[in-house]
Amino acid sequence: MEPDELARSMLGWYDRHRRVLPWRAPAGRTADPYHVWLSEIMLQQTTVVTVGPYFQELLRRWPTVADLAAADLDAVLHAWAGLGYYARARNLHKCARVVADGHGGRFPDNEQELRQLPGIGAYTAAAVAAIAFDRRATVLDGNVERVMARLFAVEEPLPASKEKLRALADTITPDRRPGDYAQAVMDLGATVCTPRKPKCPRCPWHDGCAARAAGIAESLPRKTPKAEKPTRRGTAFWLLNPEGAVLLRRRPESGLLGGMIEVPSGDWLERPAQSLAAASVQAPFAASWRLLPGLVRHTFTHFHLELQVAAARLGAGDGDGWMRADGIWVPVDRLSEHAVPTVMRKVVRHALGSIGVPE
Ligand code: ADE
Repeated sequence: MEPDELARSMLGWYDRHRRVLPWRAPAGRTADPYHVWLSEIMLQQTTVVTVGPYFQELLRRWPTVADLAAADLDAVLHAWAGLGYYARARNLHKCARVVADGHGGRFPDNEQELRQLPGIGAYTAAAVAAIAFDRRATVLDGNVERVMARLFAVEEPLPASKEKLRALADTITPDRRPGDYAQAVMDLGATVCTPRKPKCPRCPWHDGCAARAAGIAESLPRKTPKAEKPTRRGTAFWLLNPEGAVLLRRRPESGLLGGMIEVPSGDWLERPAQSLAAASVQAPFAASWRLLPGLVRHTFTHFHLELQVAAARLGAGDGDGWMRADGIWVPVDRLSEHAVPTVMRKVVRHALGSIGVPE
C-alpha cells in the first residue's frame, strides 16, 4: 500500500472506531491545547484508565493554564499523588507558568517552540502540535513504534531501531488531518495492534502489513533485554507522639520524590537489610523502635525498593522533646490532606495494618 492510501485507510478507520476520551475533541473539532498538553503529560508511563479521573480533577480545579500557573505547587503535587514520576508534576507547574507569563497564556502552535517549554520532549511537542493545532508532526510513542515495526517488519530491536521507526512513521504522516491521524495510530496500537494477540483481521492496514504477511506480527517489535533492576533496601520510621499523630517530613527538593512528604526513612542502598540497631542510627528521633513484620515493596523506574518499617509510640513519660523533632506531626486521619507519594502510602498502610489506628 502507498503512503497516501495507508493514511486514508487509517483515517477512515478512526472515523468509525475512535475512542471517546475525556481530553479528546468531538469529531471534526480540534481540542483545547491546554487539555491536550495536560493529558499527554499525564499519559506518559500511565494508562488511559488511570489518567481519566486525575485529568478530570485537575481540570475541575484549574480550568485554564493561567489557573494552573497560579496554583500552589504543593496543591498540584497533591492532586498528582498516585500518578508517580513527580518530576513531571513539577515540570507541569513550571511549564504552565512559562506559558502563562511568557506566552500570554497560549501554547505555541509548532513543535520547535513547544520543545523549549519545561517537561516537553520530542513526543509531547509532536503530539500537541498535531492534536491541538493540526500541524503535520510525527508522533512516536510506544504504540506507534509497535505499529510501524509490524507494518514494515523491522526486526532490528528497540531501542536501536527507534530512529528508523521514526523515519518510517514520517513517510506515512499525512498533510491532511495529521492530528486525527496521530490519534488514530495510537488508538490502533491500544486496541487492535496490541502487544499480544493483535487483532489483525480488524486492522485497516491488514493488507499492507509486512509482519502479518510473514507471520511474525506478535513477535515485533523485538527489544534488547534491559539490565535487571537492582533492589535497594532501607528502613522507614513510623513514629507516633502521645497525641497519636505521626511524624512526616519533606524530602529534599532535588532527587527522587523531590519535595514530597515521606514517612522519615534512612538511605536506600543496594545491600542486605540492616539490623534495627544499625538502621536506627538514621532514625528521626531517639525512641524504643521495634521492627514490624513484613516488608513494603515498590518499584521505581531504575530500581526495586524494599522498606522495613520500624515503629515507636511516645508516651507521656517521654517528655516534650518530640515537639522539636524535624518534620511535621500529622493526625493519622488527616494524612490524605498531604501530597504523599504511592510508596509512602504503602508504608502508611503497612504500619496501620500492623499496629492499627492510634487513639
Ligand atoms: N496515548 C497517549 N496519548 C494518546 C492520544 N492522544 N490518543 C490515544 N492514545 C494516547
